[in-house]
Amino acid sequence: MTTAELAPTPLPELDRTGGGGAIVAPQAGYTDGPFRKLCYELGAAYAITEMVSAAGVVYGKSDQSERIAKPYPGERPIIQLFGTDPGLMAEAGRMLYERYQPRGFDINMGCPVPKIIKQGAGSALMTNVPLAQRLVQALCQATPAPVSVKFRAGFDSVTAPDFALALQDAGACALAVHGRTQRQSFAGAANWEVILTVRDAVQIPVIGSGDVFTAQDFRCRRALGVGVMIGRGAQGNPWIFREVRGGPPPTLAERLEVVIRHTLDEIEWYGAALAMRLMRAHYSRYFRGFPGALELRDRLVKVESLREFSRILLPLWRQVQTAELPSALATYL
Ligand SMILES: Cc1cc2nc3c(=O)[nH]c(=O)nc-3n(C[C@H](O)[C@H](O)[C@H](O)COP(=O)(O)O)c2cc1C
Repeated sequence: MTTAELAPTPLPELDRTGGGGAIVAPQAGYTDGPFRKLCYELGAAYAITEMVSAAGVVYGKSDQSERIAKPYPGERPIIQLFGTDPGLMAEAGRMLYERYQPRGFDINMGCPVPKIIKQGAGSALMTNVPLAQRLVQALCQATPAPVSVKFRAGFDSVTAPDFALALQDAGACALAVHGRTQRQSFAGAANWEVILTVRDAVQIPVIGSGDVFTAQDFRCRRALGVGVMIGRGAQGNPWIFREVRGGPPPTLAERLEVVIRHTLDEIEWYGAALAMRLMRAHYSRYFRGFPGALELRDRLVKVESLREFSRILLPLWRQVQTAELPSALATYL
């Protein structure tokens, strides 16, 4: 098959570099439908779902794959798949395309977790270029949705530029690169030099990922001429997507309002028991950097029910609402 036959589908309604905004990096356990919705509302350019097993989608073993890929109402998602079998990758793409008409697919070739690389998936694909290409080709041919790939600087050593060229040849429409090798996992600083080498090697859009924690970090990276993804910097701080567009950081009142809305959306998404368990990770990120945050966090990370959550939050809510009343009025309370 020639490169021309596999030319990436153009993506007129989606600027893969994010324009003036930042892209929500896929993060298992965080970037589910309710969180993506929040990020979009606050100015994210676009968001990618956390990774979904292609085999899980095809064999429908659990409702987990279904839930991860599911868009929130009104969203046309970009669904990230992982796997090693081109046939299953294509079939999962077809099934998901029929169900959700995603704006695009992304293939995970960067996950460093042993459970995933033992299967030959995630970042292990960086050591098997022919299979990585076949996965891209299979998914490109399965649906009209464009396919991007997210990978790392390399597995043991830096191989990202050559890998990127191979993926471009296979038909990828865009590439996202986390500037660390698999071996590094999350240690050390992300290497943006490698990301720029990839940018210079290929003709398709390149998005950089790694260590973008503030609007200032974003601006420095965006000025390098690549799209910019934000992962950990958005945990508990979806306002970063507003800040990179010049908006203000949140007030405490807004923070509380969003945490409550996020909690209610998660309950609608997962049901109360699971939602309250999953929200614990978010609470520990949302409540930082103000007096009393540590104590609040300690209590919220053990929360079991919405009732318990309300009891913990209510005093702070009252305090914040009162503090925000014009002082002339507050004295009459
Ligand atoms: C908790 C967590 C889960 C992640 N899950 C995924 C995933 O499902 N797919 C993926 O491609 N990358 C995943 N990543 C990697 C991120 O997308 C990102 O590349 C990495 O965290 C570096 O960016 P950051 O410094 O902005 O967090 C995950 C990262 C974290 C911290």
